[in-house]
Formats: sequence, structure tokens, C-alpha cells
Amino acid sequence: MEQRKFVVPEVVVGKNVMELIGRYLGHFGSRKTMIVADKNILKLNWFQNIINNLMKKDIEYIIFDEVSENPRDYEAMLGAELFLAEDCDSIVAVGGGSPMDCAKCISIVCTNGGHILDYVGVDQIRLPGPPLICIPSTAGTAADVSQFAIILDSKIHIKKAIISKKVVPDLALIDTIPLLTMDTYLTACTGMDALTHAIEAYVSNAASPLTDVHALKAIELISKALPNAVSSNKEEVMEDMLMGSLHAGFAFSNASLGAVHALAHSLGGVLDLPHGQCNSILLEHVIDLNFEYAQDRYKDIAVAVGCEVEGLSSEEIKACLIDVISELREKLSIPEKLSEKINPELAEELYVNAINDPCMVTNPKNLSYKEVKGIYEKIFKE
Ligand SMILES: [Fe+2]
Repeated sequence: MEQRKFVVPEVVVGKNVMELIGRYLGHFGSRKTMIVADKNILKLNWFQNIINNLMKKDIEYIIFDEVSENPRDYEAMLGAELFLAEDCDSIVAVGGGSPMDCAKCISIVCTNGGHILDYVGVDQIRLPGPPLICIPSTAGTAADVSQFAIILDSKIHIKKAIISKKVVPDLALIDTIPLLTMDTYLTACTGMDALTHAIEAYVSNAASPLTDVHALKAIELISKALPNAVSSNKEEVMEDMLMGSLHAGFAFSNASLGAVHALAHSLGGVLDLPHGQCNSILLEHVIDLNFEYAQDRYKDIAVAVGCEVEGLSSEEIKACLIDVISELREKLSIPEKLSEKINPELAEELYVNAINDPCMVTNPKNLSYKEVKGIYEKIFKE
């Protein structure tokens, strides 16, 4: 058996678990916490419940909400400066992937000093940060359980990955309530991001029996629940989305990702587009190129999304899987192509950044420059 490592944080799931925040910060001995949050959730009732809970437990707090959709290096630096100036001793990230990634970066800099970009790459962080608790508001990113933090190098518009056990949060409080307050397009895009995490983890060169079980479960749950999550917004459907995203997070945090994320990171960095939307548009094209390099794995995925594969040829299984994915994208009203034309000045940057992205390393097929260019040409408006 090959040697494999599997890292996950402490996880508490269920309705109203976010109200455990004060008790857990008390366990960590925290007196003053920094809340890193999306601006658009500050007025929601459930966010106010978090604040009330802190006040009840006499824990002081400050709110840092200077976080863009694709968080920038300078935002993390600003947050770290504020954390130290305000003498905080813990961080609570509330929202989607952006505040959670930014919170992870703040925790690195406020403990290790220097600039956040000094820590890009694998295992570059020396000291663990202050206690970090994540309360996700979407079922998709799984930054609340992962070893990844993605940050935009704002000078060159490249999204950089920081991969380390030291950015795994200390605790994830995963609650269904915030999911019920998100708009449907965000639910659609973040759900497709979670499905992509599971698919890429399952076909990854670094997959293992420990990650496979989570990846397949995630694919089953998300492919069934996602259309209902967008149309009905019911609590039991959101529970399936929450569990699907969590399983996908356990899988990809330990098996890494592939070409969909490599191309999506490049798109998100150069054009500042939403991460989930980029993945949704790219997924079917990457499966088309990858399929023959991981046929048995994609066959399992096809079964998990509901294809009847008995008696089908490989080509037919591939066609069924791609059809299911593209029909799902259409049901979610996510477009087939981006609304802009490819800008020739930025095109070269887009291709090169994708090829150099660390997620490309674990893709089952080594994609050439021509193939990467070919995929991008399919997803831009003609
Ligand atoms: Fe992702």
C-alpha cells in the first residue's frame, strides 16, 4: 500500500452550530477575536446571532470586511496589520471562500511576519497561526476544511496557492442556516465548484482509498441535490449540499485538484471572474480531454451521477457523463460560454498561468499548451 496522509480539522455540523462560537472561542482562551467576513452578510439575521453570542460570552470583536471576491495580497496584509494593532488573539472567518482564504492568509502573516506571497507553495509556513474558526455561508469552497489558501498576486494578476497543514482551520462550524439565505446563482456556482472538487479529487494522480470514499459520496450527493437546492431552497436539500461539499473538501484537500481548477484559477486571476462560474463552464471540456487517461475512474463518476453504464462502450460512457454535466449546468442557468471575447493581449498570460498552476500537476493527463488554448477558445464568446 502506498503511504498517504489525510488531514482534516475538527468539524461540527448541523442546524444552529454557529451559535457554539462563543463556547469554542472560550475553549481557545480567546478574549478578542477578528471576524473576517463578506460585506454582504453583515446585515443578515444569522450573522447578528453570531455577534450576540460573542457578546453574551464577553468576547470582544472587530470586523474586517475589506475582502474582494478573489482576495488580494494587500487585503491579507491590511488584515494582519489590523489584527496586531487591535491585539486580537483569534480569527473567525464567516462567509464564502474569499473571507476564509483571506483569514487563513491573515493568520499566516500575523504570526510569521513578512509578506503573504513569501508563503506561496507547499509547506512554506513555519509557525501555526492563532486559533482559526470557519463558518461557511456556501456549500462549495470547503476552505473551512482544506489545506489550501488561494490569494491573488495583485501586481501580476495571478492567483497563487498556499498549501500547508498550517492553514487547516482549528474548527469548522458548518451550519445549514446560512445556506438558506444565499441567492440561487451563488448556490448554483458554489455547488458546481464542490462537484468539481469531488470529480478532480477522484481522478487526481494523488487520489487514495481515503480520499476516494469521500469523493464518490460527494458526487452522488451533489449531483442529486444541486438542482433542487436552486429550485426549492429546502433545509433537507441544503443538508445534502452541505454534506456533499464537506465530503468533497475532505477529498480534494488531501488528493489535490486538476486542470479545471488550474484553468479556473488563471481565468479568475486575469479577468477577476467568480471561481464557481469558471469551474462550471470548464468542467465538461476538461472531462472530454482527460477521459481516456482515467477511464475506470470516470466510469465510476458516471455511475455516481446516474448514468446506466451496463453494456456501454467507453465512448458512450464518456458521452453520457458529459451530457449529464452539461444538462446540470443548463438547469442551473449557468451559461455555456463567458460573456466576453478573448482579449489577444491577455490570452498568452491566461494560457501560461494555467499551465504553471500547481493543480495541473495532479491532473491525470498532461495538457499541452495547444490543448489549454483550445479549451479557452471554446469558452469565450466568438
Ligand atoms: Fe474550487
